[in-house]
Amino acid sequence: MSYYEMAKTAAEYIMSKCSKAPELVLVLGSGLGDYAEQIENPTIIPYPDIPGFKTSTVKGHAGRLVIGELFGVNVAIMQGRIHYYEGYTQQEITLPIRSLKLCGANTVLFTNASGGIDRSFVPGDLMMIDDHINLSGKSPLMGPNEDEFGHRFPDMAKAYDKELKQVLLDAAQKADVDLKRGVYIMFNGPQFETGAEINFARIIGAHAVGMSTVPEVIAARHAGMRIAAVSCITNMAAGILDQPITHSEVNETAAKAKVKFTALVNEFVKGVADLV
Ligand code: HPA
Repeated sequence: MSYYEMAKTAAEYIMSKCSKAPELVLVLGSGLGDYAEQIENPTIIPYPDIPGFKTSTVKGHAGRLVIGELFGVNVAIMQGRIHYYEGYTQQEITLPIRSLKLCGANTVLFTNASGGIDRSFVPGDLMMIDDHINLSGKSPLMGPNEDEFGHRFPDMAKAYDKELKQVLLDAAQKADVDLKRGVYIMFNGPQFETGAEINFARIIGAHAVGMSTVPEVIAARHAGMRIAAVSCITNMAAGILDQPITHSEVNETAAKAKVKFTALVNEFVKGVADLV
């Protein structure tokens, strides 16, 4: 079965469970999953119930799809994501976003937790992703191109949508959030980076480091979706502070940023209502 056929099967299953097609996808990263609780009377679908979806094995990732309405927008929230380091292929980890595209959603806000490489950042900061560097060594588009999704050689020069960036900047102002901006670099993990790797990442232009999002952005762009992305800086990247980085620190700092994260995403959803 092609990935298009798999995504179509998953999309049909999702649409059989909800009454309205989603317009906007929100992907909630490590420790940020509580945002989904804002939806009243949601349709909740655990990932293992959806044909082809893999199970998230990581603490801080609930692993379910929460569908409903938020500020008049039909949203599908991925409460937790699946990572490349879990041993799945990049085609497998991007099946959810491709499936949601086939459900009708054309806009997506990715969120994640990351380590701050830019020394002016502090843990708890939120950063709009202006661009990314794919250091995973792979692409979800490797293998035969599936023309139903998009072209063989999609342009990634403007992967993060200009208009959605403006909506995010306006949302930050309304929510009174000091939104940082920068380039996100993906390392595969699951180990955190070495100090030398972070120095390298800084030299080549990265401001924050994480282990996700990039394959999903590539697959979503390939399929013609409009993308915005926000990273929660949960810790300073390796070698900046003289202290070890832990996954519990990542989840705890993300939880502390919950109030401003919620305020920012709420304003983004309101601001995007006319565009989706
Ligand atoms: N490195 C990689 N991924 C991360 C980090 C980090 O420092 N913090 C949160 N996710």
